[in-house]
Amino acid sequence: MEGKKPLDGRIQIQGSKNAALPILAACMLIPGLCVLNNCPDITDIECMCSLLKSTGAVINTVAADTKTTTQTGNRIEINTCSVRGNRLPERYVSAMRSSVIMMGAMLGRLGEVYVNYPGGCVIGERPIDLHLYGLEKLGAQIWIEGNHIHAYADELKGAVIDFPFSSVGATQNIILAAVTARGTTVIKNAAREPEITELCKFLNRAGACIDYSGTMLKTGRIVIQGVELSKLHGVTYDIISDRIVAGTYLFAALAAGGEITLENIPIRQLDSICDTIKGMGAVIAVDEVRNELAIDASDRDKIVNLSYIQTDVYPDFPTDLQSPLLVAACMAKGKLVVREKIFSSRFRIVEELQRMGAEISIEGDTAVVTGGRELEGRTVIARELRGGAALVIAGLCASGITTVADSGYIRRGYQDIVGDFAGLGAHIRYVD
Ligand code: UD1
Repeated sequence: MEGKKPLDGRIQIQGSKNAALPILAACMLIPGLCVLNNCPDITDIECMCSLLKSTGAVINTVAADTKTTTQTGNRIEINTCSVRGNRLPERYVSAMRSSVIMMGAMLGRLGEVYVNYPGGCVIGERPIDLHLYGLEKLGAQIWIEGNHIHAYADELKGAVIDFPFSSVGATQNIILAAVTARGTTVIKNAAREPEITELCKFLNRAGACIDYSGTMLKTGRIVIQGVELSKLHGVTYDIISDRIVAGTYLFAALAAGGEITLENIPIRQLDSICDTIKGMGAVIAVDEVRNELAIDASDRDKIVNLSYIQTDVYPDFPTDLQSPLLVAACMAKGKLVVREKIFSSRFRIVEELQRMGAEISIEGDTAVVTGGRELEGRTVIARELRGGAALVIAGLCASGITTVADSGYIRRGYQDIVGDFAGLGAHIRYVD
């Protein structure tokens, strides 16, 4: 890409990866046909579909008709009536951390699962102890040998599961296992991310009995009354749009300048992101009727750094947008201190940004960015999904040509980042 060109135009936000993945896993529990609209066309979703197929599920993927609907990506039809296989192939499990949530669904459906330790982005230590603790509390027996995990349950039984801290994946895994467990499960300190709400909504539409509403956002408490597997039925569901992709494009506009409008956005989920962006001097206008959000970051003199931002669980600033924030901070005036509270190695992008001329220092979980330095185009290497997207943003801000190598990581979560930015007027293209 050739940078230093402000962004301008409108962009449609894709369906949410982090909502679609657990909902696809949930289809494993439902002995019927489920239809998911607005699924993002990304490699993590392909990977989850491959996992489902490996168990005997029949999957049909149809491109969304963008002329007649506001939906993007694909409609995915999943029929798990004939699933039998309980061994998840290592090549898919190692490719994606989210594969671990198949454990809860498979225990609920088949009572047994063989899986290896999951892979995923290299953003720091990502243990699964909370997942295993919760499944054991529900009555699963778990054997671990080297990299291999074998879990078995004659019958899952409801229990009180009190997580020491909140984990999105562990909460999803336990919800999936508890849906057909005998009796009542109470999850305390459950994660409160919107993707949890989406999973619960989907499962309730399919016949589950989950109380996640009311005060849940305050208390982090979810109560699940187990139902018979035969009571669950197929359902059609629209995947919400992706708050992290929306945030990525907002930070791109903040960093590169210009005026863009995002269509099809999850407005209510963007509060902390919009607060940060407004605090940094851009103008944000929300149109709730049309479900659109516009950002104007064209007056560059007004773009300044806040003094301190820390990532935290929802509704606070999301760790997934910490790398795009770093790039925007490089382009703003003043100093920003960023503390990463969720993942230990999420500053891997910093080395690449420094090679482009950024002034960033790291101490432990904290980065200090001194903004206002010119970035210069280089060949940089993507090492994980969100960091990779942030390097593309850096390229849009830099003088000269930037090439992002290993951009396959970005395809895990962004349908077409190159096409999206090209549509906003950026000089950007794929190279072989
Ligand atoms: C999910 C998201 C990811 C996001 C993250 C935090 C998906 C597919 N991924 O990841 O994009 O960045 O939430 O919002 O939805 N932990 C343990 N033991 C466990 C599980 C987690 O120590 O058993 C720790 C993790 O190392 C991390 C923290 O808990 O430090 C939060 O992780 P978690 O919420 O589980 O993230 P994921 O579900 O992996």
